[in-house]
Amino acid sequence: MVKAIIAPSILASDFANLGCNCHKMYDSGADWLHIDVMDGHFVPNISLGPPIVSSLRKEFPRKAEKTFFDCHMMVSEPEKWVPEIAKAGGDQYTFHYESTKDPKGLIKLIKEHGMKPACAVKPGTEVDVLYELGDELHMALIMTVEPGFGGQKFMPNMMAKVDALREKFPQLNIQVDGGLGRETVVPAAEAGANVIVAGTSCFTAPDPVELIDFMRETVNKSLKARGVYS
Ligand code: DX5
Ligand code: ZN
Repeated sequence: MVKAIIAPSILASDFANLGCNCHKMYDSGADWLHIDVMDGHFVPNISLGPPIVSSLRKEFPRKAEKTFFDCHMMVSEPEKWVPEIAKAGGDQYTFHYESTKDPKGLIKLIKEHGMKPACAVKPGTEVDVLYELGDELHMALIMTVEPGFGGQKFMPNMMAKVDALREKFPQLNIQVDGGLGRETVVPAAEAGANVIVAGTSCFTAPDPVELIDFMRETVNKSLKARGVYS
């Protein structure tokens, strides 16, 4: 089933008011929370880790209406953190293709821990590497900036990768992450992306309800035009 999923990246929130900021996003219509975990090795930045995921899970217990935690793991040892993220309350575990020698083994490990597996590629990595994994994934992530920092400029030349992946996998969740907002969601949707990560744009929007609604409509319209909306 492919439809628009809007996932604000909490990297752009005020960490002193993280719970309130996240409630605001869900209340504004967000579908998922995108949680950027960085270890200072895979990317040149440190963000947050399992204790924060765990605190957020207490704030958004699974019995609540919206509770999906999309964990984007920008770490150099992705196998190591699977048990801890599962225990902390992660729903989806997105590892970077570039960070592991055994993507299929890692997918199996993620599933064994009750999470949905997803695989990300950096801007310099060919989309083809995802082809042999696509059938086993809940989602693929095409990075539209170099991972590590929020607030960067969207890379339009990544859209060819999204388009190629959508052609091969009409029913796969395809996520784009980095520089997404009112203008850039248009080419992303046209290329076939359905999961939109938006940090800076969502958290600084004067009216996040309107922005999230606009992004959802834009994506669903394109999915319908392509004949893959379901
Ligand atoms: C970058 C992160 C992104 C980031 C997006 O490494 O993976 O999720 O928070 O931020 P914006 O939407 O501000 O580009
Ligand atoms: Zn991210």
